Amino acid sequence: MKIYKYGSQILRNKCQFIKSISSDTKQLIDDMTDTMYKDDGIGLSANQVGFDLSLAIIGKHALESENDLIIINPKIIEYSDEKTFEEEGCLSIPDIREKVNRSKEIVLEYQDLNLKTITKKFVDLPARVIQHETDHLNGIFFTDRLSFVKKKLLNKKLNQIAKS
Ligand code: CO
Repeated sequence: MKIYKYGSQILRNKCQFIKSISSDTKQLIDDMTDTMYKDDGIGLSANQVGFDLSLAIIGKHALESENDLIIINPKIIEYSDEKTFEEEGCLSIPDIREKVNRSKEIVLEYQDLNLKTITKKFVDLPARVIQHETDHLNGIFFTDRLSFVKKKLLNKKLNQIAKS
């Protein structure tokens, strides 16, 4: 699947709430999973591949789990005050990596493939990747969360990605 890059309007929209899971949704998840692994990502949101749907995949490598995590209609309901400051990259922003402040712990409410609502706590890398992907579904890039000065320095590179 084509990865939409910084500058694409679909990456600035708040994605649509998913009300039902069809075979098309499952196919989309399979295709997104293949795309994520092919491009060495550890997370991917549906709008990054051009679908306006509130859905993301968190790679098992980020979770130290045997399975990828599919999060549907995710909503972070608690953020810890304690933060971590670690480097992030994004398949939609090639060749830019920067350290981003994120909550160390979050509580996520999401739905699984049966649209069953699940509430779960995540810590460290899983919490970071989930915050990054949930941001995507709300039209936010990790670069939006950098300091004013850092953003200014990156502006030229970002505009080049947007133009290409
Ligand atoms: Co990203």
